[in-house]
Amino acid sequence: MPTVHNLPVPFAIKLVKDESLKVKTFILDGKLEAIPGQFVMVWLPGVDEKPFSLVNDSPVVITVARVGPFTSQLHEKKPGDTLWLRGPYGKGFSIEGNKLLLVGGGYGVAPLLFLARRARAQGCSVDAVIGARCAEELIFVEDFRALGCQVHLATEDGSLGFRGKAPELVEKLIPELRPDSICGCGPEGMLEALSEIAVFWKLPAQFSYESYIRCGFGVCGSCERKGWLVCRDGPVRSLSQSL
Ligand SMILES: Cc1cc2nc3c(=O)[nH]c(=O)nc-3n(C[C@H](O)[C@H](O)[C@H](O)COP(=O)(O)OP(=O)(O)OC[C@H]3O[C@@H](n4cnc5c(N)ncnc54)[C@H](O)[C@@H]3O)c2cc1C
Ligand code: FES
Repeated sequence: MPTVHNLPVPFAIKLVKDESLKVKTFILDGKLEAIPGQFVMVWLPGVDEKPFSLVNDSPVVITVARVGPFTSQLHEKKPGDTLWLRGPYGKGFSIEGNKLLLVGGGYGVAPLLFLARRARAQGCSVDAVIGARCAEELIFVEDFRALGCQVHLATEDGSLGFRGKAPELVEKLIPELRPDSICGCGPEGMLEALSEIAVFWKLPAQFSYESYIRCGFGVCGSCERKGWLVCRDGPVRSLSQSL
């Protein structure tokens, strides 16, 4: 199984799936060996290079939200086109306990689907809280269900599931679910709210953080965050490391 290291390696696109209006999944022709939560650097020659979490390693799958110039160009790619990848980089999630609560907002759900697949293969029970602004922006709902996860939906406009943000739904669910640990990935505010909940319930928690990643392996310093490097010491950190 190839590990890509620090030089970009070409991967052909096998399939492109629309997940929502702004989100596409790219299934690539090739494998890596990775831990859920790790990321790859995707290079489009002449455009730029940006980090994306792995949704799967074998085959390699990434899910991309269109937010700016790079992701718009990526969204133009079709089956047969080439993406250049290096990695996988960073520290991923570890599976703590047998009853996991995964909480994802927006494209933050991507690495959690990978984690759910590994956790289910180990026999863990998994509850997934998926949050988005509206029903059309919820992603991977059926993929989590197909893995045998209990899925709980939160939309800010109330168009599907609980009306409100994912952490508000988590607050309601925790007394009933009593998970062994929480894993989260999504916007900064969501991770802050989840941290408070985890501290209150004295639950082990791990969160995946973002920053501006350039080198991806700890030499340029561009991803520094509160004294640690997101690319090398993260992107996944346990709550105790982050406090
Ligand atoms: C570890 C890691 C994993 C990621 N995984 C995914 C993924 O699985 N799917 C996905 O769609 N995206 C992911 N991203 C985010 C993705 O790399 C950025 O959104 C990308 O830079 C967008 O490029 P762009 O040129 O299209 O937009 P840009 O012009 O670079 O950005 C558009 C907007 O998003 C903001 N922004 C961009 N990057 C970041 C960032 N890292 N932190 C905060 N704000 C930012 C910019 O300020 C701007 O407002 C991940 C980022 C990191 C650090
Ligand atoms: S991106 Fe270069 S040190 Fe993290």
